Amino acid sequence: MDKTTRENVLSLLEQHRGGLLSGSEIGEALGISRAAVWKAIHSLREDGHQIDAVTNRGYGLSEESDLLTVAGIFVHLRHREVEAQMIHIRKQTGSTNQDAKALALEGAAHGTVLLADEQTAGRGRLGRSFHSPKGTGLYLSMVLRPGGTLAAAVPITQAAAVAVCRALSVTEGLELSIKWVNDLFLNGKKVCGILTEAVSDFETGHIEALILGIGINVAPPTAGFPPEIRKVAGTLADGELDANEDMATDSAPLSRNRLAAAIIDELLDILPELETLTFLEEYRQRCFILGQRVTVQRGNDSFEAIAVSIDATGGLVVETDDGRQVTLNSGEVSLILDRNDLILNTGDNLGGDR
Ligand code: BTN
Repeated sequence: MDKTTRENVLSLLEQHRGGLLSGSEIGEALGISRAAVWKAIHSLREDGHQIDAVTNRGYGLSEESDLLTVAGIFVHLRHREVEAQMIHIRKQTGSTNQDAKALALEGAAHGTVLLADEQTAGRGRLGRSFHSPKGTGLYLSMVLRPGGTLAAAVPITQAAAVAVCRALSVTEGLELSIKWVNDLFLNGKKVCGILTEAVSDFETGHIEALILGIGINVAPPTAGFPPEIRKVAGTLADGELDANEDMATDSAPLSRNRLAAAIIDELLDILPELETLTFLEEYRQRCFILGQRVTVQRGNDSFEAIAVSIDATGGLVVETDDGRQVTLNSGEVSLILDRNDLILNTGDNLGGDR
C-alpha cells in the first residue's frame, strides 16, 4: 500500500474525527478510487487505528483511537513553521532525548520533535530512569536552537513546565501544580517530568542546541506502575473526570496527538518569554512547595529548610533552620518533601526529584 495515500486518508479522517466520510468523498478529495480508499482503511486498521464503518454512511476515526501519528499531531498544530517532516514518531526507542540529540548533531532544525510510543531506557534528572510503558504515556523531545549562552538558557526547564501546564489547561481543562524544578503534579501525584539537556560549544559557552524532554503519564500502564513508584506516580486520567464535569463543552477522550500539538505550540509560544522571564509569575503561582519544609540534597550532603520563594531567574530560595537564605539552582540539587507527607515522599524514582 502506497504510504502517501495511507497518510492522506488518515489525515482526512483526522480532520473529520467524530464524523463520517463516505468512500467516494474520500476518493474524490484525494483523487483516488474507492478500492484504493478501502485498501488504505484496511492497512490503517492493521496498524491499530480504530476506524468505524457505518453502512451507507462511511468511515470515521473513532474518538478512542489514540495512536501517535504525524497527521494526528499536524491537524491540531498552530505553529506551521514546524513542518510535517520535522515530526518523527517511533514505536519504541531507548530514549527520545538521546534520539533527538543525535538528530540535533546531524543538524536538525529548531522545532524538530521526536516522540515514541514506548521508551526502554527513558531518562530522568540526575541519572535516574523514567518509567515509559507502551501506549499510555506521552514521551516527547524537542530540539531547540535558542542561541546565546548556556547561562541564559538556564530557566528553560521552568519555562517548559509552565508551557506543559498551559497545554493541559487549554486542551483538557486540567490545572497542574509544579514541584520545583521539573515535576508536574495532579491531585498530589507526579504525572510529568521534564529533562533538559544541552549540546554546547565548550570553548565559547554557546548553545548549539537544547533538547527538551517531556514525559507524561497519560493513563495507567496496563501492568500498573512498578511498586517503587506506585505511591507517587499518577496519571492525567485521574484528573480527567473532574475536569470534564467543569468543561461541559469538551468531554472527548484525551488524545495524545492533540496534547502533543498543544505542547509543541505552547513551547514555541513561551520561548520569547525567556528574554523577559514573564512566565516566572505563573511558575510561582503553580509552585506548591513554597512555605513547605523540604530536605535539600546536593550530592552526599543534605540539609533541611523551608522553601521560601522563586527568585528572578527561577532559582529556589530556601531558609535554613539557622535563618540563612540559600538560593538553589536546578543543576545537581534534589528536593525531598516533608517526611510526614506519605504521598509525595515514598519511593519516587520516576526520574525527578523526591
Ligand atoms: C524527570 O522526571 O526527572 C524527568 C523525566 C523526563 C522524561 C522524558 S520522557 C521524554 C524524554 N526522553 C527521556 O529519556 N527523558 C525525557
